Amino acid sequence: MGKIMIVGCGGVGSVAVHKCCQNSDAFSEVVIASRTLSKCDALKKKLEGTTKTKITTAQVDADDTAVLTELIRREKPDVLLNLALPYQDLLIMEACLAAGVHYIDTANYEPEDTAKFEYKWQWEYRERFEKAGLTALLGCGFDPGVTGVFSAYALKHYFDEINYIDILDCNAGDNGYPFATNFNPEINIREVSANGSYWEDGHWVETKPMEIKRTYDFPEIGKKDMYLLHHEEIESLAVNIPGIKRIRFFMTFSESYLTHLKCLEDVGMTSIEPVMYGGQEIIPLQFLKTLLPDPASLGPRTKGKTNIGCIFVGKKNGKEKKLYIYNTCDHQECYKEVGSQAVAYTTGVPAMIGAMLVMNGTWRRPGVFNVEEFDPDPFMDALNKWGLPWKISENPKLVD
Ligand SMILES: NC(=O)c1ccc[n+]([C@@H]2O[C@H](COP(=O)([O-])OP(=O)(O)OC[C@H]3O[C@@H](n4cnc5c(N)ncnc54)[C@H](OP(=O)(O)O)[C@@H]3O)[C@@H](O)[C@H]2O)c1
Repeated sequence: MGKIMIVGCGGVGSVAVHKCCQNSDAFSEVVIASRTLSKCDALKKKLEGTTKTKITTAQVDADDTAVLTELIRREKPDVLLNLALPYQDLLIMEACLAAGVHYIDTANYEPEDTAKFEYKWQWEYRERFEKAGLTALLGCGFDPGVTGVFSAYALKHYFDEINYIDILDCNAGDNGYPFATNFNPEINIREVSANGSYWEDGHWVETKPMEIKRTYDFPEIGKKDMYLLHHEEIESLAVNIPGIKRIRFFMTFSESYLTHLKCLEDVGMTSIEPVMYGGQEIIPLQFLKTLLPDPASLGPRTKGKTNIGCIFVGKKNGKEKKLYIYNTCDHQECYKEVGSQAVAYTTGVPAMIGAMLVMNGTWRRPGVFNVEEFDPDPFMDALNKWGLPWKISENPKLVD
């Protein structure tokens, strides 16, 4: 039993709070702390009376480390789950160190003025967390997150050596809008409009955005076009999976999404360079975000399924072996359960599980870690229990 503080009350934060409240045996108390207090209060009102977990709320601007540190010291949570934006990661890690609390997040740090995400900045905190006797668990959503746990599980139980990993993220949900993003539009568009890259033979190979396209026949969904993207778990898996030769990440996009994105890019609407408008400096991408549907509003409209998983190729007892581990998740089922679509659900559930394992000591070690560095078994069991059951296919079709 313990107390968690969740910073950020958006799409993913809302799911994580719901799941902590379902899991009152682990989480006796939840503090929802975010920039807009009214969102925290509305969530508390919705859940109170349905759970044994005690819920409190707090307004906080996580960009102000001193204020956040003070709040953590006052509330004394056992763990802090960061579900704000990647820009806040380092500041929140600083506050956790100052207040002596374990840290969990789902996305690696990204400077607000440069669309570049790397673990470098957060890995630099290793010594400080070690010395403080605190755990920082990085990237504990689905991808990154569950994809790393699947990799550790495959290595532990099925392979002597994994040589190739293809991570496939398919969202076959339809929300009825010609263009909308499933999570924070600013973060999402920064991710998909960046150059792609993959890891091969010890180095990065860079590609142009959407340059590499493949079609894959996804279990329970069917054939979809998918595109190679840079993705953060490639960086940590390249370090943590011995014998790895290549890691690629593919995500599906519809024709409509890509046509709109291309057009928006061509006119400069996805830029993060400030421009003057009406005597005021604005950032085109942030302005675009205000026009797009709020991802939190997509829940009732989104129909269809997601399928996210990893295809592994490696060796067992000297012979080549293939394996596919994946989860499928239904948007409408998620909406019925927690009032959010599957993209927020598939991130919020693993975030709750990671926080639980750090809090109860199962995944607690002083330092800064990625999920694949811990024993995957308790996490895999918890996925089955908390709404993201996984399947294994022993002879999958490979991506060319
Ligand atoms: N690993 C994965 O699989 C995965 C998948 C999807 C998303 N993610 C990550 O999950 C995180 C949350 O995504 P989301 O879609 O839930 O985003 P979101 O809906 O935009 O929610 C972000 C929340 O953080 C709050 N916030 C922003 N800046 C803050 C600050 N300075 N201080 C305090 N609170 C602040 C926002 O407050 P307001 O309400 O005032 O805006 C909002 O409540 C992001 O880091 C995203 O990259 C990970």
